Amino acid sequence: MERPIRKIGVITSGGDAPGMNAALRAVARACTYYKVECIGFYRGYQGMIEGDSVELNSRSVRNIISKGGTILKSARSQEFRTVEGRRKAYENLMKLGIDALVLIGGDGTFSGGVALSNEHDIPIVGIPGTIDNDIAGTSSTIGYDTALNTVVECIDKIIDTASSHNRLFFVEVMGRDAGFIALNAGVGAGAEEILIPEENLGVDRLIETLRKGKRSGKFSSIVVVSEGDKTGKNVFELAEYVTKELPQFDARVSVLGHMQRGGSPSCFDRVLASKMGVKAVEFLLDGKSRVMVGLIEGKIVTTDLEQAIKNTHDINKELLRISNILSV
Ligand code: F6P
Repeated sequence: MERPIRKIGVITSGGDAPGMNAALRAVARACTYYKVECIGFYRGYQGMIEGDSVELNSRSVRNIISKGGTILKSARSQEFRTVEGRRKAYENLMKLGIDALVLIGGDGTFSGGVALSNEHDIPIVGIPGTIDNDIAGTSSTIGYDTALNTVVECIDKIIDTASSHNRLFFVEVMGRDAGFIALNAGVGAGAEEILIPEENLGVDRLIETLRKGKRSGKFSSIVVVSEGDKTGKNVFELAEYVTKELPQFDARVSVLGHMQRGGSPSCFDRVLASKMGVKAVEFLLDGKSRVMVGLIEGKIVTTDLEQAIKNTHDINKELLRISNILSV
């Protein structure tokens, strides 16, 4: 028989993302609304293993909806990857009387949750929080929209200096295995070329596009490179290779790095996180487990957590085509 849910545990895990705090606020407040206790664990699964926890209530999450990062901190726990680590975590959950978990993070977080729930009896619901947007079962992950806006703002500024000096800029953006940030921010900022892991168009094509651009009167150009791109060259090697082939270009490299993960969440991410946080608690109270909440066609839906990990969130090929047309 299912045990009633009186206490919910919550973590933020993996790479932090703007809007994770808004999700924590929503989880804590939904718990208060439904008269359920809420316990947050610090540093993701590591805090669960160490029993490093804090009680969350409506007041303790005030004024965090606008804050980047995560008040619970985040980590990628190596120990939780082991059976022994998960056993320790489960023992702490039982000691604290936790009946169910809300897991906020990306695929690593969800894989950890599935392993825990395979070995121990604990209901889990996942909330997708990562700037990479690389999770199936949702059109948008928490933090992605904010990261896009950050990247577009940075590239706009780079374009100012690039055009003042007639330079070619290679801008590396995050996305370990996925090109969502590169493609969407690249189109949004008007980049000449966008290199993403999902579609390796090759360096020769890039050189051809740049050559054509120069011939048609372009003085400066922006190439957005996803950190996971498959050219086999890192962004510095790529810039060196291209300028050897095209010595008429004065090239610079800008790696945007972790600034893409910080900052106050956009309104979209705050609203998304608020909806997902409330629904995650409601799904648990309705007896659901091993599901992820997601946004599909404007509605909050659930996807089987294992499917969300296994399936891939496909890149929008049409947007790639549009980007090629626009870089003429
Ligand atoms: O998963 C999100 C992400 O920001 C990736 O885009 C990036 O490759 C990675 O995390 C960086 O991780 P870390 O902060 O551990 O260097």
